[in-house]
Amino acid sequence: MIKKGIILAGGQGTRMSPLTKAVNKQLLPVYDKPLIFYPLSILMLAKIRDILIIVNKGQLDQYKKILPNGNNLGLKIEYKEQDKPRGLPDAFILGEKFIGNQNVAMILGDNFFYGQYLSSKLLENTKLKNGAKIVLYKVQKPEAFGVAKINSKNKILSIKEKPKKFFSDLAITGLYFFDKKVVNYAKKLRPSRRNELEIVDLLNIYRKKNQLTADLIGRGGAWLDTGSIEDFYKTSAFVSAIENRQGFKIACLEEIAFNFKWINKKHIRNAIKFYGNCDYSKYLNNLI
Ligand code: DAU
Repeated sequence: MIKKGIILAGGQGTRMSPLTKAVNKQLLPVYDKPLIFYPLSILMLAKIRDILIIVNKGQLDQYKKILPNGNNLGLKIEYKEQDKPRGLPDAFILGEKFIGNQNVAMILGDNFFYGQYLSSKLLENTKLKNGAKIVLYKVQKPEAFGVAKINSKNKILSIKEKPKKFFSDLAITGLYFFDKKVVNYAKKLRPSRRNELEIVDLLNIYRKKNQLTADLIGRGGAWLDTGSIEDFYKTSAFVSAIENRQGFKIACLEEIAFNFKWINKKHIRNAIKFYGNCDYSKYLNNLI
């Protein structure tokens, strides 16, 4: 069982400037909560409680204000600063000590997932022992993402980062499961032409050893983008539509922790005090 997870939540958010000049992208609102709540909720649903959040140098205080240490969520949250965006695999170099000798999941701080059976799929993926696993999702504009081509048996034939020429419409989402070798493999990578360590180069190491597998999210699931301001707006609209229809919140961290019995009513009452008089607190109050 994978017990450790990394959220990569740095980056300059240049496409979202001026919104991201003073505040990191992952702290901006997706409807009623900061973006980072959504990827964190995904790790929690995968029952991963030991979490490393990687943030930009100088922005740690922003994060600690909203997610201090995890105590109130029944989690262990640590932080590490990244001094510049060296690429996604840098997470495993920065996270070497945190990962130790264990397998690890990583989710990008700007990724949004939703759908029935998502939790059971996540738990299934945490059973990974050797190799690496990616999660694929069919999209209309694959050129904006990492892309994978698979055969009828779900074997991964090739993967490329933001291919200019069409070769598959399956995007590689920002949720990855790796065995403990990932740290050593990440250290061997060299920066690409855009001067970043590339996640596809890391994944290709596993693929060439026949150790890369894929999980597919079907049409009943949602993987949404928060790459641009327009995407943020659409994701907010999606969350608003579902939450207001059902009365359930998506990515209410305390609710997930409470349902798993990682925290009790006392923690919920603390959280209500912490958030103050707001709809989120009212929702928490209804839980108890
Ligand atoms: O969202 C899925 C896509 O994410 C994948 O399909 C691509 O294969 C993968 O490369 C990545 O593409 P993006 O263009 O979306 O990556 P971006 O540079 O925007 O970074 C994604 C998140 O990770 C963002 O929240 C910022 C953070 N980040 C990124 C880099 C490069 C860091 O914290 N540190 C970094 O060094």
